[in-house]
Amino acid sequence: MKFFIDTANLAQIKEANELGVLDGVTTNPSLMAKEGIKGKENVLNHYLAICDLVDGDVSAEVLATDYEGMVKEGLELAKLHKQIVVKIPCTKDGIKAIKFFTDKGIRTNCTLVFSVGQALLVAKAGATYVSPFVGRLDDISTDGIDLIARIVDMYREYDFDTQVLAASIRHTMHINQCVEVGADVATCPLSAIEGLLKHPLTDSGLATFIADAKKMD
Ligand code: G3P
Repeated sequence: MKFFIDTANLAQIKEANELGVLDGVTTNPSLMAKEGIKGKENVLNHYLAICDLVDGDVSAEVLATDYEGMVKEGLELAKLHKQIVVKIPCTKDGIKAIKFFTDKGIRTNCTLVFSVGQALLVAKAGATYVSPFVGRLDDISTDGIDLIARIVDMYREYDFDTQVLAASIRHTMHINQCVEVGADVATCPLSAIEGLLKHPLTDSGLATFIADAKKMD
């Protein structure tokens, strides 16, 4: 399973990248706004800064909601850097825009996906990634991981190439569950990735090794 980090924070992207296990970055307008990025030029420069930090795919979301606007913005984003994947919301215009980009050989990530039916349309339009939101489904008492499992099964059944990118990952347990159901990618906050390292037996075992190592001086 690939690991993307879900943030526009350069320090966190750098820290995750230095672990050596990072495969890419996802952003969205809320994450960009959180970093105080304003104005088209600053937004584009921020995406370039992210691409400079990491080697993998960097999802950059269109702000337009109509087909023509998405196509115009997406073409600009795709031209910006070869690592950019154009992120598009799962709407009627969005699906049309994804098909447009697929036909042009431009990679896309379809966001705000909450059902198997939406994921079917996303794959048929040829998106590179589909982003079902795990945490936001859990927030409304609906099993987000179950949706990941059902989309993975459906894509396998019909042999779709679209990769299942589990988004809205809130904690480490979500990552473990994504592994179990066969997600292709999980995009996570840094804290959830770091949580994978935590085990009391690792800590106590290391403390013993350090103590015993002193006896070897
Ligand atoms: O990539 C989408 C993701 O960032 C949404 O996460 O926590 O706002 O539901 P969240």
